[in-house]
Amino acid sequence: MPEMQLITTVAAMQNLADFWRAQQQRICLVPTMGYLHEGHLSLVRHGAARAQRMVVSIFVNPLQFGPHEDFAVYPRDLERDLALLRPLAVDAVFHPSAEEFYRPGACTTVDVGGLTEGLCGAFRPGHFRGVTTVVTKLFTAVRPHQAVFGQKDYQQCAVIRQMTRDLNLGIDIAVAPTVREADGLAMSSRNVYLSPEERRRAPAIYQSLLAAESALQRGETAVQVVLDAVRGRLESEVSPRIDYVAGVDPDTLQPVARFAGQLVVAVALRMDRARLIDNLVVRPRGSAAEPA
Ligand code: PAJ
Repeated sequence: MPEMQLITTVAAMQNLADFWRAQQQRICLVPTMGYLHEGHLSLVRHGAARAQRMVVSIFVNPLQFGPHEDFAVYPRDLERDLALLRPLAVDAVFHPSAEEFYRPGACTTVDVGGLTEGLCGAFRPGHFRGVTTVVTKLFTAVRPHQAVFGQKDYQQCAVIRQMTRDLNLGIDIAVAPTVREADGLAMSSRNVYLSPEERRRAPAIYQSLLAAESALQRGETAVQVVLDAVRGRLESEVSPRIDYVAGVDPDTLQPVARFAGQLVVAVALRMDRARLIDNLVVRPRGSAAEPA
């Protein structure tokens, strides 16, 4: 297998992308903030099956962290990340420094309206502006035909899709399923912040989502009834510090009152140091999950 390249400048990344494009090769990008786990690796496998060239970006994006959030302590381990990626079909890792990626005097950001206002957007002001700005810059550096994102960050996927459509970026956005630990906890780089005791409680998040799903599939149509049950369980079993428990339309992310086919149940809560999010797309019983 050819060597995986480590690329740290935008110019070198663009040159490589142009070279591949001149050979009619399809480029796939998996954007990450590093400290990789099986969730990230599943996105790489998902994308590699659909493109000739695979680029993984590793960049802890200062712009998407609030002033009191965990940017300074966000886990970082480039050597470990590279070792995890080497056995996969990855052609290049794009890893710019913050100075390289955000030049002094930069004053352009990308803002998506509407979809960014609710859910996490309401609790993390400026977060999605940071995400859409960095993802746009990753797109213009890597020039991918396709990019893969994880359903774990459902709102992020919806926002990126909207941005790609609105700006005519011509990039195919694929969404891959959430990868979970054996006990159901969604994998996250931030799970390292959990104390052993918090880690033992955290699987109840997924359990409460599964219970919501089966209530809806058994015929409960009042979404609020289902959400109240999720909230009650999270408060007593996981953490009383709940940012939201919401039932929203899968496309518009607007709250839904009556279950009539499709619903995203999404939750966000805070433990001592970690903020955890998870979601489940609920469809009528027996219907197949949509292909990503
Ligand atoms: P990060 O949290 O590193 O996640 C990178 C990608 O991996 C995202 O698309 C995320 O949804 C996906 N991912 C994380 N955990 C997952 C899991 N358990 N199963 C499946 N996919 C999972 O999301 C970001 O970084 C950043 O906001 C980024 C898009 C890179 C922009 O800075």
